[in-house]
Amino acid sequence: MYETIALVGATGAVGRIVLDQLVQRQFPYKRLKLLASQRSVGTEIRVGDETIKVELLEPSAFKGVDLVIASTPDEVSAEFAQWAVDAGAVVVDESAYWRMDPSVPLVVPEVNPEAVKHHSGIIASPNCSTTQMVVALAPLHKAAVVKRVVVSTYQATSGAGIAGNEELRDSVRRSLAGQTHPPKTFAHPIAFNLIPQIGSEKQDGYTSEEMKMVYETRKILGDDSIQVCPTCVRVPVMIGHSESILVETERPLTAMEATELFRGAEGITVVDDLAAKQYPMPRDCDGKDDVFVGRIRHDISGPNGIAFWCVSDNLRKGAATNAIQIAELLVRNAANA
Ligand SMILES: NC(=O)c1ccc[n+]([C@@H]2O[C@H](COP(=O)([O-])OP(=O)(O)OC[C@H]3O[C@@H](n4cnc5c(N)ncnc54)[C@H](OP(=O)(O)O)[C@@H]3O)[C@@H](O)[C@H]2O)c1
Repeated sequence: MYETIALVGATGAVGRIVLDQLVQRQFPYKRLKLLASQRSVGTEIRVGDETIKVELLEPSAFKGVDLVIASTPDEVSAEFAQWAVDAGAVVVDESAYWRMDPSVPLVVPEVNPEAVKHHSGIIASPNCSTTQMVVALAPLHKAAVVKRVVVSTYQATSGAGIAGNEELRDSVRRSLAGQTHPPKTFAHPIAFNLIPQIGSEKQDGYTSEEMKMVYETRKILGDDSIQVCPTCVRVPVMIGHSESILVETERPLTAMEATELFRGAEGITVVDDLAAKQYPMPRDCDGKDDVFVGRIRHDISGPNGIAFWCVSDNLRKGAATNAIQIAELLVRNAANA
């Protein structure tokens, strides 16, 4: 058991859900520290039956801390993670900063739980759009070997944190009032709009968010030959990323086989009855921990392809739930050691 745990980024969109999950899942700890920036120092946050004051993220904050769960911007994680490791803590980090570091395992517990054992103090949790996709791809990969994935995402504004949702609310209000409004968090007004750019321009016309889906998928599934062609789109939905996925496998799968593989996989709920208008939608997945899959069908444009629709709460399985599951794995592994 970890006696003292710290949540870094406790006031953020993901941090708030981590707190809920610590209570709901009865994560074992004796003392919890909440850390954030100077802006939030002294803010009181209710966690179960306790009220805890937010403290400043600084090197001395990690004295006596055994486990850190962190959801801060990349540049913050780049600095503080080493402070925590130097103080003897294990860090489960949600930012992108450490994910592709060869010494840092990138873990989705349903997919590559064994990777968690090979850490040197830092364990990374993937990008939200990657996490839900690899949970869905993993059973297909195990059964038939994934060769190529074409994915378009429809990503919620909360993927950009608390500021993203504030901007959606503001943009809707101002749009309905007929007011122009310069965007801050997003590149364009988000109300009644779709923005086909998430992150910065990275390479060959792809964005940083899209390249995360390419590299992180290969690292988690342990196969650098998997080809991924992503298009990431920001949509005016507050919670829940959706993805249209076409996957080609080495061995052909029927839609029925793929459905059975999804049904048998940990962390996946199949909702798939087109005639009855049943398929996963962000409104229904908000607040749930699973990855939801539907519209499962054979690729009518070529052999060896399965097309499906995948939705998950980006703040939960895409972030907080995955981090807590990693921490639970650490607790279980320590108990079995
Ligand atoms: N949102 C998602 O769906 C999602 C999914 C997967 C991964 N992630 C990753 O998780 C991380 C956090 O995302 P979020 O959506 O929760 O963002 P957010 O709502 O903007 O929250 C950011 C958190 O980081 C803290 N922070 C910012 N600058 C800091 C500093 N200099 N020192 C200490 N704390 C600082 C903030 O504290 P203050 O309140 O004091 O500013 C806040 O608690 C990001 O790296 C993001 O890429 C997010």
